[in-house]
Amino acid sequence: MKLISLLIAGWAAITPIAASCSGDPLPKSTETETTGPGDNGNKDNGNEESDSPLKPVTTGSDTLVIWYSFTGNSKAIVDALLTHVSADYLEINPAEEGLDYAANNYAIGSSLISSIRENPSSASSYPSIKEVEVPFDDYKTVIIVTPLWWSQMAAPMQSFLFKFSEQIAGKTIGLIVTSSSSSISGVEKDAKRLLPEGKFASESLWIRASQVGEANSLTASWYDKVFKSGNDETSMKVKITAGGKTFTADIEDSRTGKAFMEKLPLTLDMSELNGNEKYCYGVSLPNEDKRYDSIVAGDLMLYSGDCVVLFYGAAGGYSYTRIGKIADTAGLSEALGKGSVTVKFE
Ligand SMILES: Cc1cc2nc3c(=O)[nH]c(=O)nc-3n(C[C@H](O)[C@H](O)[C@H](O)COP(=O)(O)O)c2cc1C
Repeated sequence: MKLISLLIAGWAAITPIAASCSGDPLPKSTETETTGPGDNGNKDNGNEESDSPLKPVTTGSDTLVIWYSFTGNSKAIVDALLTHVSADYLEINPAEEGLDYAANNYAIGSSLISSIRENPSSASSYPSIKEVEVPFDDYKTVIIVTPLWWSQMAAPMQSFLFKFSEQIAGKTIGLIVTSSSSSISGVEKDAKRLLPEGKFASESLWIRASQVGEANSLTASWYDKVFKSGNDETSMKVKITAGGKTFTADIEDSRTGKAFMEKLPLTLDMSELNGNEKYCYGVSLPNEDKRYDSIVAGDLMLYSGDCVVLFYGAAGGYSYTRIGKIADTAGLSEALGKGSVTVKFE
């Protein structure tokens, strides 16, 4: 408890954010908003029935983003990350709702952290979280997005990692931490203690609360550096031209992606559907369809083994095989227009 008191004194003394946090009640995480990650929020997390376990929102990716957020910063960071990376995602929620971890000089938050510090190997030291059901076998990479509390990983995220440490063993781990001002080294230590068998990415990403507005560029450059550097020879890029504009898509390193590359150059007359996609049948490719709950603009997909679909708006709920993804979708909707369009892939 002494150490916690020192940390409280230190952090509160050096950070103006602490003062502003304690002035207004901290806004509760906006978990029920419709503008959640991928514009899908948690509405497809399987939690319409409040008692059923929460499940990841699926995109067919082998990357899972796990996040917890009390005041919304981690949530905003996940939103930003998912504009750049195709990944399934799942929010961790404390079992007890409505707790104000910041009230009374962060009393609840600090007692949760103290309890874990005092006995980190006992399950009873960790606060309960809402039940989750995660198909861990589907994932090679897990990206953890968490706030820092008293220089440690926020307690609900620790609960999740403690509970599923064995299932996450052997996977590649990315860590993104947000704090007001404290260094994230304590959170990195927590992650390694909780996931001793995790293969940690070469560096974590620290986003201060004051930098959350820059989360798009910060998460994109961190992800590309940590997960893509050195893979440039194997990354496959395709130039896509429509309506006089050019875009670049990263093509999957998969049977489908490779077969697509072999068909290039390809000029497709694509039809309009639903105000969010252009499609063209007659391009047969190997498929491994999975249900996608969350599709975003820029997703280049194969439907039913022979239909290329280019999305320029959000969708989901059908089965596809991913061909690739356009990372920078600025102007895509305008370039594709409202009706049929000729699209060149090369
Ligand atoms: C209980 C609690 C303890 C915190 N302790 C610290 C701290 O020691 N150092 C710090 O820089 N920020 C601390 N913060 C601030 C958060 O790390 C920071 O605001 C973060 O961006 C919040 O992320 P979120 O909005 O996803 O919850 C604390 C916040 C809470 C609620």
